[in-house]
Amino acid sequence: MTGPVFPQSRPRRLRRTPALRRLVADVRVDPADLVLPVFVKEGITEASPIVSMPGVVQHTRDSLKKAAYEAVEAGVGGLILFGIPAVKDARGSGADHPDGIVQLAVRDLIAEVGDATVVMTDLCLDEYTDHGHCGLLTPDGDVDNDATLERYASAALAQARAGVHVVAPSGMMDGQVAAIRAALDGEGFTQLPILAYSAKYASAFYGPFRDAAECAPQFGDRSSYQQDAGRSAEEGVREALLDIAEGADAVMVKPALAYLDVLRAVAGAVDVPVAAYQVSGEYAMVEAAAANGWIDRRRIILETLTGVRRAGAGMVLTYWATEAAQWLAEDGRA
Ligand code: PBG
Repeated sequence: MTGPVFPQSRPRRLRRTPALRRLVADVRVDPADLVLPVFVKEGITEASPIVSMPGVVQHTRDSLKKAAYEAVEAGVGGLILFGIPAVKDARGSGADHPDGIVQLAVRDLIAEVGDATVVMTDLCLDEYTDHGHCGLLTPDGDVDNDATLERYASAALAQARAGVHVVAPSGMMDGQVAAIRAALDGEGFTQLPILAYSAKYASAFYGPFRDAAECAPQFGDRSSYQQDAGRSAEEGVREALLDIAEGADAVMVKPALAYLDVLRAVAGAVDVPVAAYQVSGEYAMVEAAAANGWIDRRRIILETLTGVRRAGAGMVLTYWATEAAQWLAEDGRA
């Protein structure tokens, strides 16, 4: 016999031409959905490359403004700021100091591009603590959940007073969204949204970020607060629902590539915007393979972004945001 068993069924009909494929595509990547994570370091005079993330730098306040301007020109929907203080201590004092590096950089960005994009801040302590953990420690070296909540609330207020548009708590303490919401509301920041890193897994994919933010834990790891990869996607859904109940306005799944099932499940279970974070290790793997000439860099980047969108992300945090937005503007689609 020749031809398909069911001759009426020929899925290839709609794949024949680029125009047909474009017409029937229902998953798109729009520059406006991309969020660029940026690092700003206190006390440096020149942007400093991050070896494990080729193309990504620790910015000075000035080079950050330039990068933000470029991102906005390319149509990127938002920026998320990570600060690296010159001095770290046990309580992460830089996180809530009014002149802490992130607060200063927020003021810069709001003045520079504040009307044209969304300026967000990562809200955590690990970039600011000398021990590298996301919270305060008990004398025996545990991360103290409830004492940490007070520090998060204080950092949220410092970021709010600097004028940030969205705060994004990433520390995975229980009750962090409620604590931050209460603090913000208590000072009249009732309109400031919270994008919660809700389903955040303890992941080796964060390795290069820890070079970028100089925040590798000095002992132990983050497995007692970040989620375990071996738990099924429902736990991610539960975390997202808890955060929404505590007042989260949008939720995030992180990392993206190895957790697309969690992303799908969360997107199906919630009615708030869902973000996914394509993290540093995902970036580094593609860049390393591309540098070796083993993969088609541009196609792979756009394919991964499409995959993350298809799994259910409305927004994608990605270090390729500006470049991908520029490509999308050229081509019209991924
Ligand atoms: C915590 C935080 C981390 C990342 C974003 N926020 C590091 C961690 O949890 O260890 C990782 C982002 C990336 O790998 O790109 N403040």
